[in-house]
Amino acid sequence: MRITGKVEIYGVIGYPIKHSLSPLFQNAAFFWTGIEALYVPFEVSPENLKKALEGLRASGVKGLNVTIPHKEAVLSFADVISPEAKEIGAVNTLKFTRTSVEAYNTDWIGFLKAIQELEDPKGKTVLVLGAGGAAKAVIYSLKKVKAQVLVWNRTPEKIFPLEEKFGVEKIKRPEEALPVADIIVNTTSVGLKEEDPPLFDYSLLEEKHIVVDLIYKDTPLLKEAKKKSCRVQNGFPMLLYQGAESFRIWTGCNPPLEIMKLALKGEFPTGYSRIP
Ligand code: ATR
Repeated sequence: MRITGKVEIYGVIGYPIKHSLSPLFQNAAFFWTGIEALYVPFEVSPENLKKALEGLRASGVKGLNVTIPHKEAVLSFADVISPEAKEIGAVNTLKFTRTSVEAYNTDWIGFLKAIQELEDPKGKTVLVLGAGGAAKAVIYSLKKVKAQVLVWNRTPEKIFPLEEKFGVEKIKRPEEALPVADIIVNTTSVGLKEEDPPLFDYSLLEEKHIVVDLIYKDTPLLKEAKKKSCRVQNGFPMLLYQGAESFRIWTGCNPPLEIMKLALKGEFPTGYSRIP
């Protein structure tokens, strides 16, 4: 695509940000739909968040994805907050209009669309491992479809507000929930490194379990689940779907999902690397 002075800028802010895969598929989506826009990473430390947001907005940036560690902090910069972002308490998408900053959360939709590829969680019993920001979006989606949610967290006190807000049930040990769980979702960072000690005894998994890990790779949990013939999913589908919903919010266009999927796999050339 030809880049002219009319190009619109979108991006992702986080700290660190160099590992982000969002530029790969968002740029492919802009290219494919013929929208003259670029999507770039912005590495912004927490102490620079306010200055960065003001500066990006003043420079005419149209929208941003927001990732760790800013998802909660950006709430205080928004003029309009979607009901979902308010309920979850975290934002992953900002849209800058002429008059206001709009804040959204698309993580919950991303998770729901991703898991629905495997199984509809409606009415199912789901064990959620972790109680941080990612867990909140996951729990919000699961409660929306009336799943029964059991939560385990290393620091049990962090589950109290979730019990109150979302009506989840606290579990003392993951093992306790395995006999009743249909679906298991890891929202912690455990498994990012191969040598991380396991969250529970993975040999207790059974074929009936559906196992989802939000980490973008096949973690030891997923590998063990595969050995037991469980249906499994890593974090790529959720990443894709949350990004697709951000694209929809910014542009009002249907996201080109198949193209975004190819790009995420590294199989689609991004727009700005091609000469028209
Ligand atoms: P995110 O936005 O990715 O959810 P977060 O809000 O920092 O990040 O939450 C991280 C989650 O991973 C928490 O549930 C955390 O457990 P604690 O509340 O006890 O800190 C969990 N986590 C991180 N490292 C862990 C470990 N080594 N063992 C178990 N849980 C861990």
